[in-house]
Amino acid sequence: MKKVYIETYGCQMNVNDTEVIFAILAKAGYERTESIDEANLIMANTCSIRDNAEQRIWGRIEVFNQQRKSRPGVLVGIVGCMAERLKDKLLDTRKVDLVVGPDAYRSLPRLLEAITPESPQMDVLLSREETYADITPVRTDRNGISAFISIMRGCNNVCSYCVVPYTRGAERSRDANSIVREACDVYSKGYKEVTLLGQNVDSYLYKSETETVNFAQLLARVADIAPDLRVRFATSHPKDISDEVIYTMASKPNICRHIHLPVQSGSSRMLELMRRKYDREWYLERVSKIREVMPDCGLTTDVIAGFCTETEEDHALTMSLMDEVGFDWAFMFAYSDRPGTLANRTMQDDVPADVKNRRLNEIIELQNRKSLERYRGKIGHSMHVLVEGPSKRDPNMLCGRASNNMMCVFPAGNLKKGDYTDVTVTDATSATLICK
Ligand code: SAH
Ligand code: SF4
Ligand code: F3S
Repeated sequence: MKKVYIETYGCQMNVNDTEVIFAILAKAGYERTESIDEANLIMANTCSIRDNAEQRIWGRIEVFNQQRKSRPGVLVGIVGCMAERLKDKLLDTRKVDLVVGPDAYRSLPRLLEAITPESPQMDVLLSREETYADITPVRTDRNGISAFISIMRGCNNVCSYCVVPYTRGAERSRDANSIVREACDVYSKGYKEVTLLGQNVDSYLYKSETETVNFAQLLARVADIAPDLRVRFATSHPKDISDEVIYTMASKPNICRHIHLPVQSGSSRMLELMRRKYDREWYLERVSKIREVMPDCGLTTDVIAGFCTETEEDHALTMSLMDEVGFDWAFMFAYSDRPGTLANRTMQDDVPADVKNRRLNEIIELQNRKSLERYRGKIGHSMHVLVEGPSKRDPNMLCGRASNNMMCVFPAGNLKKGDYTDVTVTDATSATLICK
């Protein structure tokens, strides 16, 4: 049997796509390996979101090419968003045998058959229908407790800084019944948590001849599979997250109280230039609504520092919004100009690198303080936790997430992974709750 080794970069959707690729390749006689040295096929599932993401992949291509040179017959494939963005430019390097975009994974077996040293193969066609609904992913998580399920692909928004619409194509929603079936299937295999994935889950809409299912309805259906199956989801878009979704969460205790709600900027002028289609007031209203209905809901976000024309005043507005909301956690980035995006074509990337980095550092510093505040605020509280396994720092302790997504560490006792337990928070860092 041939062996395939895949490294995955970028978002959770890519992690799930890699699992789909393993399933497709299994049918073509490839077995998964975690050792690059014994692989016949070496692949990277890639990300283009920021320039540094792509730079990292270029480094990996060099390493893969060493393998290809030292072990004749070894094939190197680049798949995912960077494959879609760069297309035959990757083949031109002569370091790659295979380039496949996110909607073309079904053609992998055929392409692999056709590869010769003289003819590398490529398929980067985007699709309006492909959702891989019928493919059962080969789970690659290590704990067997928490599974990711893609519910939609692509993105119909045109946030001016973002490459995703170009690398992933148009938005399409997967058959609701196939999603529920997949969630039932993982539950029957012992999984206790599913995370429903999409770039903008709130715009999920599945229509067939007999039914129409929106995201709130899908959430409810998955939550109804079993009371001890936790349901999480990402990513919510502030412009689309509806009261119906918020109330559905509140009505089902097994839908986790955590919303990842990327704000990007606290300045309405920036949000307009970013084409986010909401303003600061709208965002703050959605946060109030969430907290009114679910006071204990965890909130996390994404922030971009130094987008085109950003002034100190705009930056101060981002800082004040972060201060006001008090996110539990945030992913924070310096703006990276991406070829082909609206911002790249029509705006100047005019904030100097040192200014971008200074603003980013201020944002990170503020968020670290806020995270510590938020986590310390839980001291004395009780948390309902799903045990994930031994703590990384101290193998005598266990770790697991609370419903609000905060990581908890607690003594093992008689607990094992997959159990639920109630713990009391006794201490906290900015990323972990220490519990008894
Ligand atoms: N669909 C999600 C986000 C997907 S990309 C949403 O709309 O919120 C993940 C995050 O990467 C974004 O939220 C944004 O903060 C960041 N990002 C995207 N493009 C970027 C760029 N060109 N430069 C810096 N950060 C970027
Ligand atoms: Fe990119 Fe915006 Fe789509 Fe998110 S919603 S993937 S940021 S275009
Ligand atoms: Fe990256 Fe593509 Fe995800 S660009 S963030 S891997 S959708």
